[in-house]
This record gives sequence, structure tokens and C-alpha cells, in this order.
Amino acid sequence: MQALLDDQRVAERVLDHIDHKTTDMGTEMWREPVANYRSEPRFRAELDMLQRLPIPFCPSAALPEPGSYVARNAAGTPLVVVRGDDGRVRAFRNACRHRGMRLADGAGCAKAFVCGYHGWTYQLDGRLLQIPHDGGFPDVDKSLHGLVPVQAEEKRGLVFVTQIPSSIGAGALDGLPNFFAADQRIFVSTETVADVNWKLFMEANLEGYHIKPTHKASFYPYGYDNLNLVETFGRNSRVTFPFRRIEKLRALPPDQRNLAGMVTYVYHLFPNVILAVLSNHTTMSVLEPLTTTQTRFHTYRMTNKGEATHEGADAKATRDASFVSDTGGKEDAAVIRAIQSGIESGANAHFTYGYFEKAIVHFHKTLNGVLGMPSNS
Ligand code: FES
Repeated sequence: MQALLDDQRVAERVLDHIDHKTTDMGTEMWREPVANYRSEPRFRAELDMLQRLPIPFCPSAALPEPGSYVARNAAGTPLVVVRGDDGRVRAFRNACRHRGMRLADGAGCAKAFVCGYHGWTYQLDGRLLQIPHDGGFPDVDKSLHGLVPVQAEEKRGLVFVTQIPSSIGAGALDGLPNFFAADQRIFVSTETVADVNWKLFMEANLEGYHIKPTHKASFYPYGYDNLNLVETFGRNSRVTFPFRRIEKLRALPPDQRNLAGMVTYVYHLFPNVILAVLSNHTTMSVLEPLTTTQTRFHTYRMTNKGEATHEGADAKATRDASFVSDTGGKEDAAVIRAIQSGIESGANAHFTYGYFEKAIVHFHKTLNGVLGMPSNS
């Protein structure tokens, strides 16, 4: 997997683009059929893919201690992910082995999972511990009625879940960079549903060609229009959005240029996760496609590396998050809804992505490759 540029090299390339009024560009255009946002068979193929790949489920920080769990659906499957007494993260299908009731909801910390219907109780490692009045179940072998496990692994500060191990997921996590440091703390997590196709949100995060027209009074006064670095690593990508204050770094020798607060790094973790490292906080958005026109967003907002122990870090991070979601975030959401409406208008047979939209081209090309579809470029 290709290594990402270090901060020093990022600063150098951004300053060079500013000097030359240039930006990173791709080498191919892409035409994505609009049918791929509306087609039920295509949507089912995407859900099937989401079950077969190692998908980031949550940050490791969402499971801070033994017994911490997160329960939610992923690609249509109810799952519960939990940190055991041994510190290991495990995932299970979220259903009791008696008569199938959902065992856990939301997030919390538990010593065991107790079914709310008849009280069958499971240990954090999934073993069935107790059946109330077990004389009524003389033929049930408890060792065969533990929770049904799903593959889970903790890597680079994230918890990945693979529902159905498959060759398309082989090697997908090799060579990934570290995304989170141990000191980063979640200060808020939310769950929302929007009436848009999941791929529209991914696309909105992967180019800076729209910064001036869409974010004229919000992001643009602090940043640049159409000035980005675009890197791909494996199936993933990183788009760098510089702030104008990066120009202050010109006065410093290259090895003393610290990029914290000078750029926003937006990582696309293929296929359905966006991780944005902003000035004073980091946001992780895990998208759960519900239908061709509806998506649930699981969002974790975290303090930045090295910030969590500073006095007032949470307040600073919260202010930063509010600014982003109340201004540019709302503008992006309005655009995505308007594109969804445009899809339903029937005006376009395909959408066109140009050289400035290199990370989107990489996304669609990779998606087609994983789904075994032909290239559209
Ligand atoms: Fe869970 Fe009966 S369904 S104990």
C-alpha cells in the first residue's frame, strides 16, 4: 500500500500549489451511470460487499474498558461489538439463542448480556452462562448455544468487523497508517438518518473543487478554492484541504513545520467511512446504507491527538465541531439532498467526474472493481 506524505512534504506541496495557483489532478475522467444510485440490484450488491469486507465499525475509543459495547446494524445485520474482560474486542450477531430477541441496544458497559425476554445470560466472550429454570431445557447443550461470533479485529485505533470472510477482503487492512492515538477521546457520538444515497455523502467529502461556490462565507474565507492534495493508498484516499494560515509556515525551516491546525485531512476508508482531522477535533462518520435513498450516519467526534489532556480541550473541540456542522456541514448536506433530487429528476444518464475529482474517480473505479463491474472511464 502506498505510504502517505509526511507533514513536511504536505506543507511543501501545498505551498508550491499556492505559488503556482495549481492543485493535485488526476489523469482520467469518470462517467458514473445514475442508475447506480437508483438500482435495487446494485444496492443489494453494495450491501453484500459491505458484509464481505473488513469495515470500520467504531473507533477503539468507543470501547474504553472491559464490558464496553456498541450495538447497531451494519449492512442490514444487527451486531454487538464488545471489549471482553481479557481486553479483546469481539463481535457477535445481536440475537439471543433462545428465540432470537435482540440482546443489546445502543452503547454502554455491561458485565454480561442478559436477554430481556426470559433472561438467558451470556458472558462477554459470548458463552451462554445461564438459562433460568434450566430444568425446562434438558436437551440444550449450553456450549452449543453461545452468541454467534463475527470476525472482529482492532487495528490502527479502529475496530473492523467482517461479517462474511471473503477473498475480496484479503489484505485490505495491510499497511494502513495509524488513525487514532491512545489519548484521543470521544466527546460526542450521534446517529442520524438522511434521505440520500450513501455514495453522495462520500463524494461530497472527496474534492475541494466546490469550496468557493458552496462554502463562500463559511470555509472559503479560511481556505482555498480548488487547492488540494489528493493521495490514494490501497482502496482508500486522503484529500488535504489547507487553511490560508499555512502560509505562516513559509518562514520556518521545513523540519520545523507543524501542520496541526493548518490543514484538514479527510480520509476515505473504503467504502463507507469518512474520517476528517480538523483544526481542533476529529470526526469519524460510518455510513449505514438503508435503501437506495436513505442512509444512517453513525458519527463520533473526538479530541485531536495530544489534546485530550489539555485544559478546555473538550470545549475547544465542541466549538470547532459546532462551527463545522452549523456552517459548511449544513451547506454540504443541502447540496447532497439537492443532488438526490436531481437523481430523481431523470435529467442525467450519468454523472461526470473530472481531473479535480480524482479521489471520487478512485472510489468509483475501486467500487466497480470490487463488485466485478466494468470500468466506466
Ligand atoms: Fe432470549 Fe428467550 S428470547 S431468553
